[in-house]
Amino acid sequence: MTSSEGYSLDKLNKPVNWDNLAVMDKKHVPLLKASSNVKSGEPFEVHLKVGGIDGVEHPNVLSHYIGWVELYAGERPICRIEFAPVVSDGYNMKISVILEESTILRARAFCNLHGLWEGKGERVTVA
Ligand SMILES: [Fe+2]
Repeated sequence: MTSSEGYSLDKLNKPVNWDNLAVMDKKHVPLLKASSNVKSGEPFEVHLKVGGIDGVEHPNVLSHYIGWVELYAGERPICRIEFAPVVSDGYNMKISVILEESTILRARAFCNLHGLWEGKGERVTVA
């Protein structure tokens, strides 16, 4: 089921055109920042932020909030962080990660009203 606002509760929501994002994309897509080159076995920081593209922030109220964010190395889960609304700033995270192989980091975020969202992957080369 796809709503008139262009999101689906049944499927993964991913922006189709990054040059022309819908407001729902700007609000929900998790953004990743990490070094593109890291050393095998050494921790590095991954910064995650949900939404906020062009200043379009996601609400953080009891009736509408981001419930969790997951980080993956390719298809391999790294972590899942759950948030309570209002009291947690679930939209800015720093996670320490250790990789031994090059991969594409991916993040997914779940909104209690608008379902599951994924942004661009970030390639990390491990040397
Ligand atoms: Fe939402």
